[in-house]
Amino acid sequence: MIVETFQKMFATPPEVVVRAPGRVNLIGEHTDYNEGFVLPAAIDRYIEFAGRRRADRTVRAHSSDFKDSVEFSLDDIAKDAAHRWSNYLRGVSKFLEADGHRLTGADVVFGGNVPREAGLSSSAAVEVGATAFWQRLMGLKLDPVYVVKLSRRAENEFVGVPCGIMDQFVSALGRREHALFLDCRDLSYRHVPVRGEVKIVVCNSGVRRALAQSEYEVRLRQCRQAEAQLRSAGLAVNSLRDVDPVDLETAGDALTEILRRRARHVVTENHRVLEAVRVLAEGDLERFGELMNASHQSLRDDYEVSSKELDTLVELAWKQPGTLGARMTGAGFGGCTVNLVRADAADAFAEAVRSGYQEALGLKAEIYVCQASDGALAT
Ligand code: GLA
Repeated sequence: MIVETFQKMFATPPEVVVRAPGRVNLIGEHTDYNEGFVLPAAIDRYIEFAGRRRADRTVRAHSSDFKDSVEFSLDDIAKDAAHRWSNYLRGVSKFLEADGHRLTGADVVFGGNVPREAGLSSSAAVEVGATAFWQRLMGLKLDPVYVVKLSRRAENEFVGVPCGIMDQFVSALGRREHALFLDCRDLSYRHVPVRGEVKIVVCNSGVRRALAQSEYEVRLRQCRQAEAQLRSAGLAVNSLRDVDPVDLETAGDALTEILRRRARHVVTENHRVLEAVRVLAEGDLERFGELMNASHQSLRDDYEVSSKELDTLVELAWKQPGTLGARMTGAGFGGCTVNLVRADAADAFAEAVRSGYQEALGLKAEIYVCQASDGALAT
């Protein structure tokens, strides 16, 4: 598809084609910016890039999703409020150049099938795809973790969204049939096989994440405040990652009620991820599912980032035969749920959740049965 579009736009075949996947997080939510643990998987939904070099310093970019084109010079890269879809590519290009990687101009077309604003990290896929695109086009030798960090930097510093590192990491380094266990403090990671006859089913609530950015910023601040209050109470913590559940019991009084609940989510979620990785490796999918369910409850009650729609989807999922676990995934306030479902029950699951959601809220859920897939840099 992307190759044909490129050919139509520029009347020649592209020199390189790369793709970067969206992601779903199995467990470990709102832990990445607390130096904690996460366990996402890349999914078989991609943003593809096709392009060729130019002899000058001009980038001509076309979005096949927005059916819109822009042109900018590598010598003067600024944010473009009128073509916001292009800012990820602009940011990545700017920071590569700032780091001393000399680029040439390029003609590029990109787009794909990662649902937008659904909590499946379409922006991370665009950023990682753009970085991988330049890497291939220019033959740059880049360390994979550098690609991840640069892509995130484009989101944080250029686009201006304060996300953690999980999404870019898994879009770059996810692996087929595996989840990716990442320690967000030292960025060490390991692929954990998702074995057995199970499917990762994603249910899209269809509700745009209206509050997502402002509430995300509030949660981020609350975590920093909780750390500060725990430090004033004498606990040696750099981040909530360093707090264990016992500390929280004893030093919890130092925290205001809201901060105590926010901290409890992060602290218990980190423990759930560690157990989830262990039981997944042992093939104990029942226990894995229970941990997903507990994660949802914690996000709903302590972290307060769920919504009526997400809770409805999760509660419907819990009732279906063959569901091992169900929870909201991503930042929250809309977007998607992730469900681990026995393979032979997946079709009936999708049907029942779709009709139950329509009946309960009069809304249409889109349902994707996903494969854990290779990231953009997988070799
Ligand atoms: C968004 C951010 C991630 C992470 C999740 C919540 O997806 O981009 O970095 O913080 O929310 O787990």
